[in-house]
Amino acid sequence: MPVYPPEPWRVKMVEPLRATTRDDREAALRAAGWNPCLLRAEDVYVDLFTDSGTNAMSDRQWSALLHGDEAYAGARSFYVFEEAVRAFYGYEHVIPVHQGRGGENILSRCLIRPGTHIPGNMYFPSTRAHQELNGAVFHDVIVDEAHDPDSAYPFKGDVDLGKLKAVIGEFGAAAIPYVSLAATVNMAGGQPISVANLTETCELAHAHGIPVFLDTARAVENAWFVKQREPGWARRTVADILRALCAPTDGAVMSAKKDSLANIGGWLALRDPALAEQARGLVVLYEGLHTYGGMAGRDMEAIAAGIAESVDENHIRARVAQVEYLGERLADAGVPVVRPFGGHCVCVDAAAALPHVPRTEFPAQTLACATYLQAGVRGVERGAVTAGRDPVTGENRLPRLELLRLAIPRRVYTRAHIDLVADAVIAVHRDRDRIARGLRFETEPRHLRFFQARFTPVSGASIFR
Ligand code: F0G
Repeated sequence: MPVYPPEPWRVKMVEPLRATTRDDREAALRAAGWNPCLLRAEDVYVDLFTDSGTNAMSDRQWSALLHGDEAYAGARSFYVFEEAVRAFYGYEHVIPVHQGRGGENILSRCLIRPGTHIPGNMYFPSTRAHQELNGAVFHDVIVDEAHDPDSAYPFKGDVDLGKLKAVIGEFGAAAIPYVSLAATVNMAGGQPISVANLTETCELAHAHGIPVFLDTARAVENAWFVKQREPGWARRTVADILRALCAPTDGAVMSAKKDSLANIGGWLALRDPALAEQARGLVVLYEGLHTYGGMAGRDMEAIAAGIAESVDENHIRARVAQVEYLGERLADAGVPVVRPFGGHCVCVDAAAALPHVPRTEFPAQTLACATYLQAGVRGVERGAVTAGRDPVTGENRLPRLELLRLAIPRRVYTRAHIDLVADAVIAVHRDRDRIARGLRFETEPRHLRFFQARFTPVSGASIFR
């Protein structure tokens, strides 16, 4: 049996969960157009749809809420928030936004012009969508190992410098507004980038006058992996490593709904004062004043407290260990999962699990439905549905990774819940031959289609024989 270390917290408040029957779940999933995203959360028992905004706040964070200063302009809470971001991430100019994609919008609008090119270590849907909406073409320059679910490479978030050089060589530095990096890489299954590779990537980009912006949504989880895996970092604190990851970059976009243990919020942080001034100008238009950016004062207080808790090594050790436990249980039972296990999720390789379901019938979406029907466990598709269509050709993108992502909220579920998830996924895998065919679109939204799409089973009434 894999190890499950005791959580460094105890439960102080509970939220009842409602058990459902298989019939309930069939009815709910049909009403949701075979898209677990469209389920009502009350019809879900263990919700691994995302680790974003679903974290349990600590007693300290809840008490910090009461310190919220709700002044429209210049609230005290903004300065507490600004100070926490500066201290832990090391950027000078801190601009609050309502959540990560608000920051992506502002950064993309400031820097991207039509016909430009953005290289990055794989894509995240909202990040790439904003880049494309502003007229850029995204280029994936991540190492090949990231696209191989079976590769045990310890830093699957690393940039392939050869690929980056090729993009710079082909389009010229003037056509590249910035390099878009993430730590960890969500779409690869929560895989880290090494400090060495991040630093070299920045050196290469800077040598061509190209800035580098880091998506820090899960950079603390990345720092934990650096401490475990990267030579020379084992004795450094996670807080130190976090600063080392940010140090060579020109700024960051943050969804505080992840690492920072908050339910909402984010920031954009920059070093260049002129760019920061431009970004503050846009924040006023799209988010709110530059001292609240769409958040309440209390949200900024909760984030400031959450940032300090996020780098606590007892916290981050237990958080990653819980993810690892789920991964080990699935792997031990022969379920094909992405290795190494990520910081925030375990990803089932749906293309390997359901080889008889063609990629055009969305095996990962199909597996997400089967897992929900089995035990009320909700994961999310991270494959062809999420990848969307190429904005130029209109063709469906077919990424190599076709994954069912099981993302674990921080400090929310107990070992019994995780065992229930493992048992459900293992049971679905054992009976995988019962799944006859996959799904096809009934309605297909234009942007971030995975959220609101509706599907029908290709074989008629159900995905099952
Ligand atoms: N960047 C990364 C790496 C993310 O994972 C997300 C959100 C965002 C940016 C956008 O941030 O949601 O605050 O606007 N990821 C969530 C997920 C939705 O489920 O992976 P946001």
